[in-house]
Amino acid sequence: MSKTVFLPGGAGFIGSHVAAELLTLGYDVVIADDLSNARGDVIDRLEQITGRRPAFYRIDVADRPALTAVFDAHAIDAVIHFAGFKAVGESVEKPVAYYRNNLGTTLTLLEVMAAHNVKELIFSSSATVYGVENEAPYTEDMPRGGCTNPYGWTKAMIEQILEDACVADPALRVVCLRYFNPVGAHESGLIGELPNGIPNNLMPYITQTAAGVRKELAVFGNDYPTPDGTGVRDFIHVVDLAKGHVAALCYTAKHTGWEAINLGTGRGTSVLELVDTFASVNAVPVPYHIAPRRSGDLAVCYAATDKAKRLLGWQAEKTVADMCRDSWRWQQHSDKL
Ligand code: WQD
Repeated sequence: MSKTVFLPGGAGFIGSHVAAELLTLGYDVVIADDLSNARGDVIDRLEQITGRRPAFYRIDVADRPALTAVFDAHAIDAVIHFAGFKAVGESVEKPVAYYRNNLGTTLTLLEVMAAHNVKELIFSSSATVYGVENEAPYTEDMPRGGCTNPYGWTKAMIEQILEDACVADPALRVVCLRYFNPVGAHESGLIGELPNGIPNNLMPYITQTAAGVRKELAVFGNDYPTPDGTGVRDFIHVVDLAKGHVAALCYTAKHTGWEAINLGTGRGTSVLELVDTFASVNAVPVPYHIAPRRSGDLAVCYAATDKAKRLLGWQAEKTVADMCRDSWRWQQHSDKL
């Protein structure tokens, strides 16, 4: 009897890659998404990749009657929660919308899960919960908080909500996966990141510059205390990240309680190193200029990965070159979708 996994927000960049892994492994997958930051045809492309089609509901996950109807229609065994707004800059301009949506979807989800006796939840958290007070490599026992934007605060608050829910109900099984910098795309070139408008994140800006969609990449600062002066990040291939979610699902099947676990490679790569690697593995120029620092940016951010290895038996395997190759393939294919 295969397990049914519900993916609120599962039509997005990370969710669709997790859905592909789960479908390939024989799980039944149910996706609910309002398509505010995703396209509905990702469902067709998931079927093209895996030969299996997830159930799909276009709903607002915060809408309790709509979400209840999904739980009534499917015997859901576990939930992986991706439903939330995720643009750091936008969260500064629209904090109320971010708190309403990110907390609202979570609270409704918890209520409907409880009403249907569903106890397993994996939450899409973020390294931003480490804030500015902690120093890399980040370990999961470090204090949460000191976030530099409302988006990061929503992730920290939701982790707290989930911790409190686990104290109230010891039968709950919750893992908060703290993503570092997800990049890359499925090797098929059929699913990947679809940023709305001008990309905030580095890799989509690089691929759009290489494709001529953007004129030039602005490198935000080269005067940081790092080897080449540019920011250092823990870039992790989205397929490695997806496999980390499957490993977390196996963990919550056997363990109650609340855990936070980093999903990163444990290696730092600078902005210029990523640009140079992308240009060389794809044999395509990436014009750039040095611009002033972006406010709120950290100099260095990368994960400690021991806990993921110990609890999940998982570690990232793909290289930065793999990330660059797969991102470029997706950029070239997504133009034609
Ligand atoms: C990476 C580096 C920039 C764009 C954010 C969120 C995090 C997660 C990933 C959701 C930095 C530099 C960037 C550009 C640049 N998102 N950069 N020119 O800020 O590390 O993390 O995205 O979960 O929560 O905080 O990612 O890709 O924006 O920046 O020089 O046009 O690239 O200064 O050093 P970040 P990023």
